[in-house]
Amino acid sequence: MSQSYIFILMVIIPLIFSQSARGKDCVCELQNSDPAFPENKLNNVEFNAIQCARNITSEKMIEIDRLVLGLQHRIRQLLDNVSMLEKEDNGNLYAAVSLRIIELELAEIQDLLDKLNRTTNNYQQQSLQTAAEFHDMTETMAELEKFDSLQVIAKEHENKIIKRDLERCNEELNSTSPTPTLSPGPCGFGRMVNVSGPKTYSLTEYGTSYLYGAWGRDANPAPGNENKYWLVVLTSSNVYGNFIRQYNSLSTIILGIEPTDTYISSSNPTTNTIQGSNMVMYANALYYNCYDTYSVCQFNLTTQSVSTVDLPSDTGYDDKFPFRHLDTTYSYTDMDFATDESGVYVIYATTSNFGNVVISKIETSNPPVLGQTWSTSLHKATATNTFMVCGVLFATRYLDKKTEQIFYSYDTKTNIERYDLKLNITKRQTNIEFLNYDPRDHLLYVYSDAYIVTYELVFQ
Ligand SMILES: *[C@@H]1O[C@H](CO)[C@@H](O)[C@H](O)[C@H]1NC(C)=O
Ligand SMILES: *[C@@H]1O[C@H](CO)[C@@H](O)[C@H](O)[C@H]1NC(C)=O
Ligand SMILES: *[C@@H]1O[C@H](CO)[C@@H](O)[C@H](O)[C@H]1NC(C)=O
Ligand SMILES: *[C@@H]1O[C@H](CO)[C@@H](O)[C@H](O)[C@H]1NC(C)=O
Ligand SMILES: *[C@@H]1O[C@H](CO)[C@@H](O)[C@H](O)[C@H]1NC(C)=O
Ligand SMILES: *[C@@H]1O[C@H](CO)[C@@H](O)[C@H](O)[C@H]1NC(C)=O
Ligand SMILES: *[C@@H]1O[C@H](CO)[C@@H](O)[C@H](O)[C@H]1NC(C)=O
Repeated sequence: MSQSYIFILMVIIPLIFSQSARGKDCVCELQNSDPAFPENKLNNVEFNAIQCARNITSEKMIEIDRLVLGLQHRIRQLLDNVSMLEKEDNGNLYAAVSLRIIELELAEIQDLLDKLNRTTNNYQQQSLQTAAEFHDMTETMAELEKFDSLQVIAKEHENKIIKRDLERCNEELNSTSPTPTLSPGPCGFGRMVNVSGPKTYSLTEYGTSYLYGAWGRDANPAPGNENKYWLVVLTSSNVYGNFIRQYNSLSTIILGIEPTDTYISSSNPTTNTIQGSNMVMYANALYYNCYDTYSVCQFNLTTQSVSTVDLPSDTGYDDKFPFRHLDTTYSYTDMDFATDESGVYVIYATTSNFGNVVISKIETSNPPVLGQTWSTSLHKATATNTFMVCGVLFATRYLDKKTEQIFYSYDTKTNIERYDLKLNITKRQTNIEFLNYDPRDHLLYVYSDAYIVTYELVFQ
């Protein structure tokens, strides 16, 4: 019986010590917490920390220590008494009297134990409460830190933008060349030096009914289709289109005679119909932003069927990252398709690239596949349109009602960006809703407030 009591006591004592050790850790950690944040929240944390430290005073430690020492003393006494009794054992003598005395002794120890248990229970509860408070405080501190680090990141981002703008400004100031130039690389036409025109300028058979549309020639036509022209007008809300109109020649598109219509769907808009004006035709397929998604649609005019490929899921669509200038948003121009000597590209913006332009090659297989991708520093909202020549992206901006300017280039072969181009495009209408380069005739095809216009790129 006495042995089992001793066993219990031996188990309990180290438990008490470990708890007081935990208490000391807590005080230490709290006093280490950084009191430097200028936040109201921090004041609360500080107040709690001070209270917590006060609650776990050394007095409480001493109380526990005293109880433990007392217990140890009593246990030693009891052991002495028991061994004495054993030595005195002479048969039945001690059984009656001594056991009663030991019982009393044990009862006293039990009292002590209970007292100690109560104290430790209080202490334990307090340390639980303190631990919870400490946890809350740690969380609040983490929150404060997170808040602050976000501020730092936001400021850093702001600084980056300002720095970039400064650099651009510097570059523009330093640029002394009267005719900004760039080398279009392996296509062999030297440097682009001017945009002449308009070369052709007319309304379509729709007159001024539709402000948004696109037109041009197939950049990679099947034999027999070389001189065909296509026209898509966004007949619903200046945003949506559902059919392609084709003409046999430039004169028939200007006169608006003998068109052939091919419908993507009988309703407009619906799944996989056209959204936004910046589409292109390549190898008898139309490439455009599918209605209400971040997908690229490829409409095969031969089979009259649509295949799609997704852009990254953080790609802007539904008017999230359209082209614009200060006064005007070119509605739903989130995706701009471009043709050049090497095929089809899509120009868009993503959240992860901060709304800046991303270029992706589109492999024109069936279904289409997303090819190589380039991230630029050109903020999409600062451009009014883009086109590609021989692997180089060019962006335009609005200068005034009469002038659009090619101001930016990104070479996908060297990843070199320039913000100092100053090639003016003379306008007859205020806005350019569609702009694309035809690698076969080196013309820019433009849809400008219902007018279909061409310009010639002049190379040195
Ligand atoms: C400190 O003790 C007081 C009174 O026992 C209690 O109200 C308070 O919540 C405790 N504070 C902490 C931080 O444990
Ligand atoms: C037990 O031992 C202590 C000293 O170790 C002694 O003072 C006490 O009287 C003893 N009690 C009994 C019941 O023998
Ligand atoms: C200590 O007290 C708690 C609750 O008051 C009880 O559950 C536990 O059995 C006690 N421990 C001992 C060793 O008496
Ligand atoms: C612009 O010219 C100044 C003075 O010649 C030079 O210090 C600076 O680095 C140049 N900046 C750029 C972006 O070339
Ligand atoms: C560039 O084109 C415009 C518009 O056709 C023309 O007025 C201008 O003279 C051309 N500039 C050069 C340097 O050829
Ligand atoms: C369009 O369909 C025709 C007939 O099936 C096929 O030969 C052609 O490769 C398709 N075009 C594309 C771009 O998938
Ligand atoms: C481009 O147009 C702007 C605005 O009309 C004009 O100030 C500037 O001189 C033009 N640049 C050239 C090279 O013609």
